[in-house]
Amino acid sequence: MTKVAFFSAQPYDQRFFDAANRTTFKSHGFELIYHPVALSAQTVPLAEGCDAVCIFVNDMLDADTIEALHGLGVRGVLLRCAGFNNVDLEAAKQFGLFIARVPAYSPEAVAEHAVALMMTLNRRIHRAYNRVREGNFALDGLLGMTMHGKTVGVVGTGKIGLATARILHGFGCRMLGFDPMTSAEFKEIGEYVDLEVLLEQSDIVTLHCPLIPATEHIIDVKALGQMKPGAMLINTSRGGLVDTRAVISALKLRHLGALAIDVYEQENGIFFLDHSSEIIDDDIFQRLMTFPNVLVTGHQGFFTAEALSEIAEVTLENLICFAAGSSCNNALVVTAPDREVNA
Ligand code: NAI
Repeated sequence: MTKVAFFSAQPYDQRFFDAANRTTFKSHGFELIYHPVALSAQTVPLAEGCDAVCIFVNDMLDADTIEALHGLGVRGVLLRCAGFNNVDLEAAKQFGLFIARVPAYSPEAVAEHAVALMMTLNRRIHRAYNRVREGNFALDGLLGMTMHGKTVGVVGTGKIGLATARILHGFGCRMLGFDPMTSAEFKEIGEYVDLEVLLEQSDIVTLHCPLIPATEHIIDVKALGQMKPGAMLINTSRGGLVDTRAVISALKLRHLGALAIDVYEQENGIFFLDHSSEIIDDDIFQRLMTFPNVLVTGHQGFFTAEALSEIAEVTLENLICFAAGSSCNNALVVTAPDREVNA
């Protein structure tokens, strides 16, 4: 029986994975064990006796953790997410670990959330909601802009960026894109420009590129300075794309018009947990929360029933490949000696 230890497991993970394991994957007899804690050097022992671990975005799979897992006999890592910036792929390759992810579970789910953030900020729905509940129907302070005819810059026109661009194109927005790899589908609805031109011309900039060394702090002091005064910035991709301190300065200068984030540079330890009865020590995050024109959601872009079903199905498909020792289209590290890292 193949045994998997889940880390950072939430009740909804257990619900969707158990459902898939009881139905579609019943004949494989997988044993799934759920741990709410994140994977770290301290929690590695929880994987003892397991063949694989299943991790999420904020479980750190650094070289030490990989070595410790390998020492326990764990040979597989299943990422139940698309991004893999939290994984040391070189170390995984060195220890011959099987690593697979879920490359696309519902690009539309994340795209729809990005647009929901945009529209909430633009029409001040977050403020209107509270006002109306207190009997305040005054409109002053709720002024938005008509989306039709506005220019939106999409940084990273892959699956999620393209899905976002298609929705906004439907609103009648002019779409600009920046991506080292151009796509014919994006060209049907938008125009590729340099990042600088995108930043200068866009009323809204939305980030959909992965976090890699080349994109770390892609939105920094310089990029913010290049943005149109009053423009809106949306980040549903990875927190590290944005220099949060620089964003706070740009907001204080009234240069950046509004910010919505579903991801945060230091979200590890804050997001996915209930801190409502505690003091949050992160002063940068807390400063962000004081701006009326900042909207934060806790990494919920992926969080739809359809996406969770897909994540469970694809992860367990990846587990079948691992258990059978067969090739896997979603592998990030191919462990056969003559194969290269596929990422
Ligand atoms: P994708 O791989 O389909 O697209 C990423 C695009 O970014 C590619 O076209 C790539 O060429 C481009 N890119 C690479 N380097 C770039 C650069 N320097 N500048 C501009 N573009 C660059 O990935 P997908 O599925 O669209 O996901 C994008 C990101 O969304 C993921 O990396 C992940 O971090 C994030 N994500 C967030 C979720 C959430 O719940 N908030 C859920 C799923 C993914």
